[in-house]
Amino acid sequence: MGLRLGDIAPDFSATTTDGEITFHEWKQGSWAVLFSHPADFTPVCTTELGRTAALRGAFDERNTKAIALSVDSVDDHRGWAPDIGEVGGTALNFPIIADPERKVAELYDMIHPGEGDTSTVRSVFIIDPSNKIRLTLTYPKSVGRNFDEIIRIIDALQATDANPIATPADWKPGQRVIVSPALSTEDAKGKLSNVEEVKPYLRYADAP
Ligand code: BEZ
Repeated sequence: MGLRLGDIAPDFSATTTDGEITFHEWKQGSWAVLFSHPADFTPVCTTELGRTAALRGAFDERNTKAIALSVDSVDDHRGWAPDIGEVGGTALNFPIIADPERKVAELYDMIHPGEGDTSTVRSVFIIDPSNKIRLTLTYPKSVGRNFDEIIRIIDALQATDANPIATPADWKPGQRVIVSPALSTEDAKGKLSNVEEVKPYLRYADAP
């Protein structure tokens, strides 16, 4: 059975562009975005890793570390890194896992044989500081990921962890939120601002 939301993200040791790491130790106390790409020196992947490097400040603000993975060697990753910097406008500033034996890819079910070959698809795992998997996304090889959406998801997870709220469709930070169904409207009025009851089960409030 694959990994599910709420599962503990499996720990592993791996060689990366930043040296040997043990995953849980590397991310200790942080959120993490663990994401796979099909192959080095490929166009979509180059734009994705470039975008991730450019977002380093946004990840840092959210106590989040990014880490990429493919089944290529660490020498390939290091050889490719200058292209990532050139295309994304920021030098590579996060580790890329080398997984030629596909150990991590298999642990996280990142290889989908129906998607072409034995390389990884575009998997994303957002993992919280207690190592719980909080979100999974899987994109096909031909479609580059939306990294603004990944940042938005981290914002929504952190906001809903800290407050008795949920986030509506297409929510962006600063916009009105949904009162948690676990909270009565009366209790919500004591905890949140501008509570509005649209339906008994749909109450909006200002972003906390
Ligand atoms: C790419 O990154 O451009 C790519 C990699 C594998 C299959 C299709 C596209």
